[in-house]
Amino acid sequence: MFSNNLFVGTELSGNQIIKKQTKLCDILTYYLNQPTSADLDSIIYEVSIHENSKNPKDGDLSFGISAINSGDIDGEYYMTKGHFHTDSSKAEYYWGISGKGLLLLMDRDRNYTIHEVYPGALLYIAGHMAHRLVNIGDKLLNVGACWHAISGYDYETIKNLGFPIRVFKNANSYKIITI
Ligand SMILES: [Fe+2]
Repeated sequence: MFSNNLFVGTELSGNQIIKKQTKLCDILTYYLNQPTSADLDSIIYEVSIHENSKNPKDGDLSFGISAINSGDIDGEYYMTKGHFHTDSSKAEYYWGISGKGLLLLMDRDRNYTIHEVYPGALLYIAGHMAHRLVNIGDKLLNVGACWHAISGYDYETIKNLGFPIRVFKNANSYKIITI
């Protein structure tokens, strides 16, 4: 059987592809500092998702690619909002495609780990761990993902409580700030 869906380099195209853009206006409050001069229309990241079914059932999978732009808000690197899975038994795989980033993982007791993301890196995310990507490079960060279609997304916890660690620019590298 031939597939109409193509995963070429960093592009996902074909049928049942959903693209979601997150602009600065959608995520500004997640940043430690929120400069009034920031361009609220700038695109922080885009996610392309292949949804296999409109009514997913247990066992179905979804596939996606996240593309996080390079940049920072008052020194804090561009990042995804991050989320917990509503169903904490549903794990997920990430893998680095291009660019340089960090994957932040955090459990509900706010214990965290930090993982480097680079082309070829394979990252297993246990179902109970919130996950956020941070682009620490000067190019686009592209990361593939495969997850259970019925994982569910809890964005609210992160929106309200954030992560206990933030990633800022530091000369040619990055620095972690704990809050
Ligand atoms: Fe997820």
